[in-house]
Amino acid sequence: MAESEIRPDGRFQGRAVIVTGAASGFGRAIATRFASEGAKVVGADLNPSGKDVIGSLPGQGHGFVQTDVSKSDDVQAMVAHCIEQHGVIDVLVNNAGYSHMSMLMWKLSEEDFDGVFAVNVKGVFLGCKYAIPHMIEARRGVIINTASIGAIAPRPGVTAYNATKGAVVTMTKGLALELARNNIRCNAVNPVAAETGFMKGAMGVDQLSEDQKSNLVSTIPRGRLSTPEDVASAVCFLASDEADMITGTCLNVDGGRSI
Ligand SMILES: NC(=O)c1ccc[n+]([C@@H]2O[C@H](COP(=O)([O-])OP(=O)(O)OC[C@H]3O[C@@H](n4cnc5c(N)ncnc54)[C@H](O)[C@@H]3O)[C@@H](O)[C@H]2O)c1
Repeated sequence: MAESEIRPDGRFQGRAVIVTGAASGFGRAIATRFASEGAKVVGADLNPSGKDVIGSLPGQGHGFVQTDVSKSDDVQAMVAHCIEQHGVIDVLVNNAGYSHMSMLMWKLSEEDFDGVFAVNVKGVFLGCKYAIPHMIEARRGVIINTASIGAIAPRPGVTAYNATKGAVVTMTKGLALELARNNIRCNAVNPVAAETGFMKGAMGVDQLSEDQKSNLVSTIPRGRLSTPEDVASAVCFLASDEADMITGTCLNVDGGRSI
């Protein structure tokens, strides 16, 4: 069945799901998969083009909030929108993020270091800070963070970026413990490289050259890059009732690269 259709057996019928970074790449695929499984999606992104992405999702009741996840006021407005529209936050997917340009860590500017921590780490903190009180009140909820395989198996060149994702992995595990008795689960996904908008920031190119791609693929036993759909499948599994006993897990979506 196409992603543009609603699946009658969808796992998220009527559930309210916030997805950050929903305008592109993984976030777009995650938002689409949730919508096709019956969820009402609140998409958030810095890029206003997210409005069209959310407008084209299957089903009804979706909304877009232009949000900089590193800004407290924006994140509070995103959470308030979900509560006003749906009364609850069933799932929060903290997915927005980017990488500084690949370079040796000591050559990175302080400004670029602070910028990537503000979005990738503080952004996750703020999403959790403002969504969790509503989840505690409802006595249910699921948080999924997009970390990276670089958090546990770093490559040279994106060390500060990988450190942001290491922080996301640690926050995911700590939050899982803090929230377990409130019927709230917290997990992460660790994707391997994918050809999304991310590559523009990390490699400075819209599309990888064949050489760049085959260098990356040569380190992935599965023999290919990951895709937004791979990541959406893992996120939606972890958010579903099928994963009810799974919390504090950072699921590698890496084709075996970290083995
Ligand atoms: N593509 C990869 O190789 C890869 C691998 C591992 C992890 N990741 C992670 O996956 C997540 C999604 O990235 P992607 O690959 O889909 O890239 P992408 O660039 O296609 O999508 C990221 C989205 O996040 C948005 N965004 C960036 N900064 C933001 C901010 N301050 N506030 C709100 N939105 C913001 C962008 O506008 C964009 O729409 C990121 O956290 C990234 O670090 C990517």
